Amino acid sequence: MNITIIGTGYVGLVTGTCLAEFGHHVTCVDKDEDKIRQLRKGKVPIYEPGLDALVNKNVGEKRLRFTTDFVEAVPGAEAVFIAVGTPSSRRGDGYADLTYIFEAARELAGNLTGYTVIIDKSTVPVGTARQVERVIRQTNPDADFDVASNPEFLREGAAINDFMRPDRVVIGVQTDRARQVLQEIYKPLYLLDTPIVSTTIETAELTKYAANAFLAVKISFINEIANICEAVDADISALAKAIGMDGRIGSKFLHPGPGYGGSCFPKDTLALLRIVQEHGESLRIVEAAVEVNSAQKARMVKKIRESLGGSVAGKTLAVLGLTFKPETDDMRDAPAVTIIPALIEKGAMVRAHDPKGMQEAAKYLPAEVEYAKDAYDACKNADAVILMTEWNQYRALDLKKIRSVMKYPVFIDLRNVYEPEKLKSEGFHYTGVGRK
Ligand code: UDX
Repeated sequence: MNITIIGTGYVGLVTGTCLAEFGHHVTCVDKDEDKIRQLRKGKVPIYEPGLDALVNKNVGEKRLRFTTDFVEAVPGAEAVFIAVGTPSSRRGDGYADLTYIFEAARELAGNLTGYTVIIDKSTVPVGTARQVERVIRQTNPDADFDVASNPEFLREGAAINDFMRPDRVVIGVQTDRARQVLQEIYKPLYLLDTPIVSTTIETAELTKYAANAFLAVKISFINEIANICEAVDADISALAKAIGMDGRIGSKFLHPGPGYGGSCFPKDTLALLRIVQEHGESLRIVEAAVEVNSAQKARMVKKIRESLGGSVAGKTLAVLGLTFKPETDDMRDAPAVTIIPALIEKGAMVRAHDPKGMQEAAKYLPAEVEYAKDAYDACKNADAVILMTEWNQYRALDLKKIRSVMKYPVFIDLRNVYEPEKLKSEGFHYTGVGRK
C-alpha cells in the first residue's frame, strides 16, 4: 500500500519506518528542510534505539523515502497519516495547539487523488478528526476521502517494539471502507493476533487521553504513597511489589521517582482537563495527579537540601541522568529541568552527565551547569551525587571509585536503583524515595 506520513518527529518517523518494515511504500513529508536533508543522508535526528538501522534498511530497500514536497508525497497515497506536533498552546492554558494539524490538512487536501483515508496519529482533542474533515472538504470539495483516528501508544526508548508488538491497536472510523484500509495497513499485526479495537472516531481520540491520564494517576499515586512511607518508616519497594501482585492493580508503573516527564503525560493530562472543562465535566483525580507531580519535583529539591544538612549553597552536586527517562535524548518536561535550576538558584554548583542527552540538555538547563565526560568525572569533588535518571550505565557503578573521587559520600537515589544497605555498607549516606 502507498502511505504518506506528515511529520517526521518522534511519532511520524517511527510510524513511517515501521510501516515500511511491514512492506508498505511510505513517503515521509516534513517542512523542516534540514531534517529531511539529514534523513536523506541516513542520519536520524533523534535518539531511539534501533531506529537508524531500520530507517536505513527500508530506505535501502526502496520502501521509505523523505521529501519536503506535498506534491511529491500525497498524490497516489491510499492513506495519509497526520503525525505533526500538538504542543501545549503558547498561551499557557493547557490547550493542545492544533495549528500544525490544520496546516497539514489544508496542504494535503489539494493533492488527494482517488479514495484516501486521512488518519490522525497525533494526540488530539476529541472532535479534531471531524474538524480535519471540514478543513479538507472546504479546501477541496471534490475530494473522495474518510477521516480516522489511530492513536499511538509508543514509549520513547522502546518505540519500535511497541509499534511492532503492541498490546492493542485502536482504530476509530466512521465507514467500513476506512476500516478496511486500516485493517490492510495493520495486517501483519492481525497475523500476530494483536487485539484491534475498532470504534468510533471520538472514542479513539478520547482513549489515548484516558490511557495516558490513567498512567499519570498511577505514578502520582505511588509517589504519594512513597511519601507516606517516608513518614511512617515503611518501604515503598516492598509495598509496590506486594500491591502490584494483585492482577487488578498490575506491577507496572509503580516506580516512585522525581515525577513523570516527557512529551506526553504532562501535556496530555493538561489537554484532557481542558476538554473535560469545556464540556462542563470534571476529572478531579487527574487534576490531583498533575498537582502531585509538580509537588513531587519540589519535594525532590527539599530532599536534596535536607540530605546536605539543610542547604546546598556552595555545594557541588553531581547529577547522573538528565533526560526524562533512559534510552532517549528527550529533555521535554524532564524533572531535571525543574530540579537543577532550583538547586542552582539556591547556590549549588552542578556537574552533570547523561549518556545521550547532554547536547539537548544544554538547551534546557542554565548555562552554569558543567557537563562531565562520565559518571566518575561528574562525581569529582562532589558533596553529593544525585541519580536522576535510571540509565543502565548507572546501575552498576563502581561505588568504591565514586566514593574515592567525591568530597563527601552523600548518595541521593531518586529512582531507587540501589539498595540502601549496599550503599551504606560502601560508606555512603543514603537517601532514596519512599524508603529509609
Ligand atoms: C508515554 C506512554 O507510556 C505511551 O504509551 C504514550 O504513547 C506516550 O507517553 P513515554 O512518555 O515515552 O510514553 O514514557 P513512559 O515510559 O510512559 O514514562 C513517562 C514518565 O513516567 C517518565 O518520566 C518516567 O520516568 C515516569 N515513570 C514511569 C515513573 O516515574 N514511574 C513509573 O513507574 C513509570
